[in-house]
Amino acid sequence: MSGLFVTFEGGEGSGKSTQIVRLESRLRDAGIATLVTREPGGTPLGERLRALLLDAASARDAPRADGAEPGLAPGALTEALLMEAARAELVATVLEPALAAGTVVLCDRYADSTLAYQGAGRGLDAAMLASWNRAATGGLTPDLTLLIDLPVRLGLSRRAGAAGPENRIDRESEAFHTRVRERYLELARAEPARIVVLDGSLAPEPLAARVWEAVSARLPAAQARPAG
Ligand code: TYD
Repeated sequence: MSGLFVTFEGGEGSGKSTQIVRLESRLRDAGIATLVTREPGGTPLGERLRALLLDAASARDAPRADGAEPGLAPGALTEALLMEAARAELVATVLEPALAAGTVVLCDRYADSTLAYQGAGRGLDAAMLASWNRAATGGLTPDLTLLIDLPVRLGLSRRAGAAGPENRIDRESEAFHTRVRERYLELARAEPARIVVLDGSLAPEPLAARVWEAVSARLPAAQARPAG
């Protein structure tokens, strides 16, 4: 028995989280065993790493000169390695067992995030990151990746209007987020069978319909009853 591994990717303000919640309830309503998790995080250790990685207080420009204590903000390599550490833990302790049990797993971000953010955003070498991804995942690749794409300015303005604190990476420049978006679209062009690009400027309802279309087409035959 083997489940279905679906990941969600996209820039800030893409509406991924709303879509994951909607998809989860639609799958559950259809009687399909579903697990939702996220990166970085999803395990006790991974959530601790997440707090270290995303803490907005550890801004990159925290004072470090003049002998002051360095801030907690990681350098680019450290950031990438901590993302991979959280990923290795999630794959081994959560994703592999759930998929082996036949569960549909919805993961908010995965290895493509590292290629986009640490690769294009921070400028780390793409081949090095791809090889770290292979090591951390043991080769576990999503059956389907939904890339929710939208113009950077729209995403950033949605994000600015949203409740909840901004994380350290959200605060990067518009140029950073533009590089991230472009890398995501390149990845989608390179792997069209796995990565489906959806229009994040759609309202939640029509976007949810597109999400369902893509996911239901890939459900194992025994589970592919129409829902709702
Ligand atoms: P989150 O609050 O989940 O952001 P979003 O709502 O945009 O998904 O924070 C996750 C942040 O971590 C996001 O800014 C992207 C970043 N990230 C990386 O830079 N590299 C990675 O490998 C992963 C998994 C996330």
